[in-house]
Amino acid sequence: MFKAVGLYNNVWSVIIVFTVIQAAFGTYQVEGAADEDGRGPSIWDTFSRTPGKVWNGDTGDVACDHYHRWESDLDLMAELGLDAYRFSIAWSRILPTGTGEINRAGVDFYSRLVDGLLARGIRPVATLYHWDLPQPLEDAGGWPERATADAFERYAEVVGAALGDRIHTWTTLNEPWCSAYLGYGQGGHAPGRHEPAAALAAVHHLNLAHGRAIQALRATSTGAPEYSVTLNFHVLRGRGAGADEAVRRIDALANRAFTGPMLRGAYPDDLLADTAGVTDWAFVREGDLAVIAQPIDVLGVNYYSTATVSLWDGVAEQQQNDGHKGAAGGTAWPGSDRIVEFVAQDPPFTDMGWNIAPDGLEELLVSLSEQFPQQPLMITENGAAFPDEVAPGGAVHDAARVDYLQRHLTAAHRAIARGVDLRGYFVWSLLDNFEWGYGYAKRFGVVRVDFDTLERTVKDSGHWYAALTQTRSIPAPTRVG
Ligand code: FCB
Repeated sequence: MFKAVGLYNNVWSVIIVFTVIQAAFGTYQVEGAADEDGRGPSIWDTFSRTPGKVWNGDTGDVACDHYHRWESDLDLMAELGLDAYRFSIAWSRILPTGTGEINRAGVDFYSRLVDGLLARGIRPVATLYHWDLPQPLEDAGGWPERATADAFERYAEVVGAALGDRIHTWTTLNEPWCSAYLGYGQGGHAPGRHEPAAALAAVHHLNLAHGRAIQALRATSTGAPEYSVTLNFHVLRGRGAGADEAVRRIDALANRAFTGPMLRGAYPDDLLADTAGVTDWAFVREGDLAVIAQPIDVLGVNYYSTATVSLWDGVAEQQQNDGHKGAAGGTAWPGSDRIVEFVAQDPPFTDMGWNIAPDGLEELLVSLSEQFPQQPLMITENGAAFPDEVAPGGAVHDAARVDYLQRHLTAAHRAIARGVDLRGYFVWSLLDNFEWGYGYAKRFGVVRVDFDTLERTVKDSGHWYAALTQTRSIPAPTRVG
């Protein structure tokens, strides 16, 4: 699997013009300490403790134990030369029930973390919501209810007041597509509901929560942070008769349902028409769209692979998917006799079964900058799971991951050369961590975590990434040890 010198010869010497190169984490995936210091339960605690929902019955109870090991993890980031750390804040550490009393111990944890980053010269990039809704808010109806957006606004005020003097970039939501469609439509993510109309209500209330949170963070932050949101875009390929129509429909549901209100101040007409058999969108109230369309400084882009869709005539059957990002958004949408099906992609694949397609990243960045010419972009997640092996002596020669990262960074660089205003790149992820429905079975880290001992070992990809941060150019693959 180790790639021979030569394949990327022509790009090695190209200087990358990214200003920030960094690593990313989601709170439930790394922190552990699930019951500590007043943290309240979230929907992922409930979901992962429900038999059959997560591979092997894994939970985030301990995860990478980052909650206790954050200082040495920050030292590791500094050693690797990271400019920025994208982390998420657990809502239920700040407000254990989602509303009500503030938990000072939770606020203090993130405050120490931010100070620790600044002391090491690493920019804090904080995400308010990475899918871990406080359980009492779900008990009251969750994201399909408008009250959840109200609660999110208050949460944003609290963290803005506590950390807004030091945060470099605020990100409101991570991948609201997953929260809405996987959480409430397809059900492979917490809270595991299968209610298409509720999923679309969740889309709107997440959009509203984003706008309200930007307003609240602006009002309370005393520093000069940048504001952003992170979306996971679907880069679509159509197949068969009706391919264009299939692509249009999924583009509307998966991409434009978020960029429309957030960046243009309107839901796309075709989305409203396509979903008319599911909902009348009466949950969109007067004035909501103006609130949602807050100016943002940077649009976060998560990219892993492409998706292929086709129109399928016949009776809609609920298609099973892989529990993370498979068929959701396709067959979950009744109300039409023609449904969209997600079909198999061409190899090669990562360990997630996601196809490796660096060109899709270039295409996405160019397309976004054509659609939103004034909007700077940031790659907030990109990376790959592979079944790493530990060599005698402890090294991890993850040549496939190095190859993936190198090819995607090169694709990003091509987009810059085509005029895209791309401000930075975050690898997903620094550490192996809790990969949602897959538990600890899928490893995305450039640093290995032994989940028995919690020991961290920098993989070849981590050394490669450190060379990237030091030289600001895409390095050749090197094998360590
Ligand atoms: C993204 C999530 C992140 C991780 C990666 C692999 O959808 O934001 O937490 O699961 O995929």
